[in-house]
Amino acid sequence: MQNSPPPFHTERLILRDFKEADFPAFFATSNDPEYRQYYSEKEDSEEYWRFIFDRIRASAAAPERTVYQMAVCLKSGELIGSCGVRMEDLENRQASFGCAIARPYWGAGYAYEAARRLFDFGFSEMPIHRLYAETKAENRRARALAERLGMRLEGELRDSRWFKGRWWSMVIYAVLEGEWREKN
Ligand SMILES: CC(C)(COP(=O)(O)OP(=O)(O)OC[C@H]1O[C@@H](n2cnc3c(N)ncnc32)[C@H](O)[C@@H]1OP(=O)(O)O)[C@@H](O)C(=O)NCCC(=O)NCCS
Repeated sequence: MQNSPPPFHTERLILRDFKEADFPAFFATSNDPEYRQYYSEKEDSEEYWRFIFDRIRASAAAPERTVYQMAVCLKSGELIGSCGVRMEDLENRQASFGCAIARPYWGAGYAYEAARRLFDFGFSEMPIHRLYAETKAENRRARALAERLGMRLEGELRDSRWFKGRWWSMVIYAVLEGEWREKN
C-alpha cells in the first residue's frame, strides 16, 4: 500500500496527477506577493506557469516515468499546491525535490506531510541515492521544511542568481537513501 503508484493518500491529503482542468487552480496557488517574493519576474507570467504545467503533465505520461510532480489536494478535493520528486540524473541516482503550497495554507504542515509521503515513495520505488533541494538562502520557510525533513545543508552558492535588480544566494540541502531509511 505504502509503495503503490499514485494517487497517494496521507492523513489529510491526496497527491494525484494533474488534469488539464487543474490549470486555473494551479496558476492561482502562486498568485500571492509573499509566495512570489523569491521568484524572478520571468516566473510571474501565466505563460511561464502554463509551460511548467504542460511539462509536468508530459512527464507524468512518459513511458519510463522518472518525475512525480503531484497535485496536492485536501480530502475535500481542493487543490492547494504541488510537490514532487524528479530523477534528474539516473546514472548517478540523483533526484531533486520541490514543493509549493498556496499562501492561505502555510503553517499547517501540509508541505511536510506531502513531502514525507513522496520521499517514502521515491526512496523505495525509484533508484534514488541522493535527494536534493535548492532554494534562495532567504527563503526561511523552504529551509525550515528541508531541515524538518532531515535534509542536511550542503552549501551556499553566493550571489548565483540575478533578478528583481539584485543578487540572490542559493542554498542546497540533501538527504541520502541510508539516512532517510534510518530515520523513517
Ligand atoms: C516552502 C513552503 C511550501 C513551506 O510551507 P509551510 O506551510 O511553512 O511548510 P510545512 O508544511 O513544513 O509547515 C510548517 C509549519 O506548519 C506547522 N504545523 C502545523 N501542523 C503541523 C504538522 N502536523 N506537521 C508539521 N508542521 C505542522 C509548523 O509548526 C510550522 O509552522 P511555522 O511556519 O509557524 O513554523 C511554502 O512557504 C511555499 O509554498 N512557498 C512558496 C513556494 C516556495 O518558495 N517553495 C520553495 C521553493 S524551493
